[in-house]
Amino acid sequence: MAGSKCRASAETFNTDLNLSFEDGLIYMLQEVLTDQLKDLLHAENQLVKALPKMAKAAKDEHLKSAFTDHLEQTKGHVERLKQAFEMLEEPAKAKVCTGMAGLVEEGSEVIEEGKELDAVAADLGLIAAAQRVEHYEIAAYGTSAKFAESIGREDVAELLSQTLEEEKEADQLLTQITQPLLDAASGQGAEPETEEAGTRRSR
Ligand SMILES: [Fe+2]
Repeated sequence: MAGSKCRASAETFNTDLNLSFEDGLIYMLQEVLTDQLKDLLHAENQLVKALPKMAKAAKDEHLKSAFTDHLEQTKGHVERLKQAFEMLEEPAKAKVCTGMAGLVEEGSEVIEEGKELDAVAADLGLIAAAQRVEHYEIAAYGTSAKFAESIGREDVAELLSQTLEEEKEADQLLTQITQPLLDAASGQGAEPETEEAGTRRSR
């Protein structure tokens, strides 16, 4: 049973560190939280490198801007994670995030495949890859914020929730950008704005 396993682990910390059961549990949860943050730090660092490639590959101007804007936000997410480590008095050490590595790899494949496709199909592929990334991050930040809250670290939970909200907004923006592309693909909408068309519209 998960509950009894958790208790056993807390008791291990109890014995090793001579803590009360409650303090042992908090110590254990902080270890779990820190591990999540290390994983997220590596995930965000990978995105800082991947997003410029996504922006370069995007044909639709709104999609290109969404990737460029999210790159700036992502740099802020890295800073928030470093701040969270500081608040928890833990070293800001990244741990390889194989989940994000896989998603970034898929993104690279989509960029390559998109070179053979028309602009709308290529952009829809990029959106699909980017929304997978956002959902992955939403899961990770949601869980981490909950863990922080459970150990009474509302300050850390608040910080992580700010990023969580930005990830959700980024995901919603991608959904908004999708509709005109789908309309264009089905011949129902106006031509999407591309760099080549030189029809930059304010967002
Ligand atoms: Fe992020």
